[in-house]
Amino acid sequence: MNWLIDFWRSSIGGKVIMAITGLLLFGFVVAHLLGNLQLLSGPDKINAYAKMLHDLGPLLWVMRIGLLVVFVLHVATGIRLARANKAARPVAYAKEATIQASFASRSMVLSGLSLLVFVVYHLLHFTLGVTNPGHSALKAAGAGGHDVYAMVTASFSVPAIAIAYMAFQAVLFLHLSHGVQSLAQTLGLNHRRYSPMVRTLAYLLAAAIAGGNAFLPFAVLSGIVKVAS
Ligand code: HEM
Repeated sequence: MNWLIDFWRSSIGGKVIMAITGLLLFGFVVAHLLGNLQLLSGPDKINAYAKMLHDLGPLLWVMRIGLLVVFVLHVATGIRLARANKAARPVAYAKEATIQASFASRSMVLSGLSLLVFVVYHLLHFTLGVTNPGHSALKAAGAGGHDVYAMVTASFSVPAIAIAYMAFQAVLFLHLSHGVQSLAQTLGLNHRRYSPMVRTLAYLLAAAIAGGNAFLPFAVLSGIVKVAS
C-alpha cells in the first residue's frame, strides 16, 4: 500500500494520475454529452435513454461510485501538484514574464475549482432535486419516473438557469483545451512536429464538447426544443 501512496506523492506519479483520471473524466463528459443530445430528438428518445441507464441497477451505482472516486482523485491530485509547484518557488517572480503559458494553462486550478462548483450545483439541481424540487417532481411524475425531458426543458426555460449552464461551458472549454494538451504531453506527444496538431485538436475537442453542452440550454431558451406540455 505504501508504494501506492509514495507514487501518488511523487511528482511523476501525480502527473500520471492526473492523465489517467483526466482521460476517464473526458470519456464521461463525451458520453454524457452524446446522451444529452438526444434531447434534440424529443421526449421518447431521451426518456428511453434515462430508463436504460436506470435499469442498469447495481451496475449504475458501481459506475457512479467509480466516477466519484476518479473525480475526487483528479481534484485532490491537481491541488497537491499546484501547491507543490508553488512551494518550489515560495517567492513569486518580481515580474511575470510568462511567454509560453497560455491563459488556460495558468488558470487550471481556478477553472477546475469552478467546475467543481458547477458539478455540485448540477447534482443538487438534476440528480438530488434540491435547488428546483418542482423540476425534479416533473421527472418523477411522467413516463414511469423517467421524464428527464420534462425536467430538463422546464429548467432551461428559466433564463437564469440556462445562462448559468452556458457560462459554465466557457469554463469547461478553458479547462479541457489545456487539459487535453497536458494529457498529450504526459503521454509523450510533445514533439515539436506534433505540438501544433495537438493544440488544434485540443481546441476543437473542447469547443465541440462545451459548444454541444451550451447548445442544449440555448435550444430550450430559444424555442428550438419545446418545453414539455
Ligand atoms: C447542458 C448540459 C448538461 C445537461 C443537460 C445535463 C443533464 C444531466 C442529467 C439529466 C443528469 C441525470 C440526472 C438524474 O436524473 O439523476 C445529469 C447527471 C450528471 N451530470 Fe450532467 N448535464 C449537462 C452537463 C454536464 C457537465 C458539463 C458535467 C461535468 C462537467 C456533468 C456532470 C454530471 C454528473 C457527474 C452527473 C451524475 C451522474 C449520475 O447520476 O451518476 N453534466 N446531467
